[in-house]
Amino acid sequence: MRIDIVTLLPELIRSPFEASILKRAQTKGLVEVHLHDLREFGRGKHKQVDDYAFGGGAGMVIKAEPLFECIEGLLAERDYDAVVYTSPDGQTLDQPMANRMSSFTNLLLVCGHYKGIDQRVRDRLITHEISIGDYVLSGGELAAAVIADALIRLIPGVLNDETSALTDSFQDNLLAPPVYTRPAEFRGMKVPEVLTSGNFTLIDQWRSEQALSRTRERRPDLLGE
Ligand code: ADE
Repeated sequence: MRIDIVTLLPELIRSPFEASILKRAQTKGLVEVHLHDLREFGRGKHKQVDDYAFGGGAGMVIKAEPLFECIEGLLAERDYDAVVYTSPDGQTLDQPMANRMSSFTNLLLVCGHYKGIDQRVRDRLITHEISIGDYVLSGGELAAAVIADALIRLIPGVLNDETSALTDSFQDNLLAPPVYTRPAEFRGMKVPEVLTSGNFTLIDQWRSEQALSRTRERRPDLLGE
């Protein structure tokens, strides 16, 4: 998978891709992440990329010209499965969406900023609008990093244990069960006995029960209850 990210703040989004799983995914050649600094497409001596909103009101709007130039340049180089704009008014990201998008070949993420981007960019160039939740961030960069992380970890070969993404919370509309590691007893707190029993039928059964009871308690909406 190739992910292109158009941003005014490349320094804000660089570090998540330079550590841990996301870095290893790139080193293994399973994903390429390319950052594109929108400022380079700015107009005039000051490389202006934003302007006042027509009709007045607080906040600057990112101009159409630099975004068109940057995005059209990328579109001319390859076909994208989706051109995504990160915005609180988009469709809320969930695990089924992440699963679908993880099989994309080329993904273009456009980070919003200030009061938004000129609507004509959204009308003409953007194919999907995604929110990461019902709250407002100061820019789309962190949202783009969240989206990229959710997809990249699902690409086969990215996680060491191929099956571990399958046991994530949400993959079967259930939250994940509790997990424990050594020591088996810590400050008087014992690990549930079944987990040290070696009986994997019982362990699977216990995990299913825990996932269900945890989901019922914390997120009954996932069970449609
Ligand atoms: N930009 C600002 N807030 C956002 C959100 N909640 N999701 C996606 N992009 C955003």
